[in-house]
Amino acid sequence: MAASFEAELPSKPVQEIAQSTKEVPERFIHKNGYPQDIHDSVPLMDPLLIDLSLISTEAELQKLQFALTSWGCFQVINHGMTSSFLDEVRHVAEQFFALPLEEKQKLYLTVYPEDLRKLNFWPENLPRFREVVLEYVTNLKIMLEVILKAIARALTLEENCFLNEHGEATMIARFNFYPSCPAPQRVFGLKPHGDGTTITMLLQDKEVEGLQVLKDDNWFRVPVIPHAIFINAGDLAEIMSNGIIRTAVHRVVTNSERERISLAVFCLPNPDAETGPLNELINADRPQMYKKVKNYIELFFQHYQLGQRAIDVAKL
Ligand code: OGA
Ligand code: NI
Repeated sequence: MAASFEAELPSKPVQEIAQSTKEVPERFIHKNGYPQDIHDSVPLMDPLLIDLSLISTEAELQKLQFALTSWGCFQVINHGMTSSFLDEVRHVAEQFFALPLEEKQKLYLTVYPEDLRKLNFWPENLPRFREVVLEYVTNLKIMLEVILKAIARALTLEENCFLNEHGEATMIARFNFYPSCPAPQRVFGLKPHGDGTTITMLLQDKEVEGLQVLKDDNWFRVPVIPHAIFINAGDLAEIMSNGIIRTAVHRVVTNSERERISLAVFCLPNPDAETGPLNELINADRPQMYKKVKNYIELFFQHYQLGQRAIDVAKL
C-alpha cells in the first residue's frame, strides 16, 4: 500500500487514506489469495554483502557473480557514504512525507540527466531536502558506474561493455511510504514485481523490515542493514545479460504496528536508445533470448498495471 506508482494511485494517496480511516478500502485487498505467511514463516535471506572498496578483487567479483545469477540482488557496503549521511537522507524522506499533500503530489523525481531535474517541482519548504538528495544521487551516479563495471567483470567480460550498452543513465528517485496497516495478512505494500530498470538502488528503512525477494518460488525476507544500499537487478539487466542475470522479483509486506519509509533510485538507459543483449553473451550455446527494447519503462508500466511482466514481451 505504498504511495507509489502513479498508475496505482486512486484519487487519494494511501498516506492520506491511512490517516483518515482504520478500515482497509476494498481495492487494496489482494484478490488472488492473501499474501499469506508474510512475516514469521518467511526465512531471512543471506545478506549477500558486497564490499565496494574491494570490488576489484577476485573474491568480491565471485560473490557478485553468485548474487547476480542466483538472486538478482545484493547489498553494498563500504560505498563511501557514512551512516550519519544515510540517516540524514532518511530524515529528509521523513520530513518529505510530513509535508501537506499538494507539496508531494509529484512523487517521482528525475535526478539524471541533470537537465531533466525540474528543480522547481521539488519541495521548497524543506531546507535541506535538495542539498541532501542531490548529494545522495551524485554518490549513486558514481556507484552506478562502478557497479556496471563490476557486473561486466563478474561475468568475465571487458569492464566497459555493460556501461557502453547502457549509455547515459536516467535516474529517477521515488520516496515510498508504507503506512502501518490494520490488515497486513491481506494487503501488500507493493505487490510482487520485477523492476523495469537496469538496477535499482534502495535505501531501506533503518528499523522496519518489509522487503522480500523471490528465489526458486520461495519468498525470503531481506535483512535490514542500516549502512548498506540494497541493489536489485531489473528486467534490463536480464535483457542485456541475455538472461544470465536474473531480475529479482520482490514485494513489500505491511506491518500492523509501524510505518516504513524507503527511497528507491531507478537506473535506466536513455529511453530513446535501443537496449539489447550484449553480443559477447550471445553464442551457439546461448542464442539471443530477448529482442532489443526501446522506452522499456513505458512498456513496463503498461504491464505492471495489468499484473503482467513486460519482460515476457521482450522474450524471443
Ligand atoms: C520499488 C520497490 C521496495 C521498498 O519501489 O520498486 O520495490 O522496500 N521498493 O520500498
Ligand atoms: Ni521494486
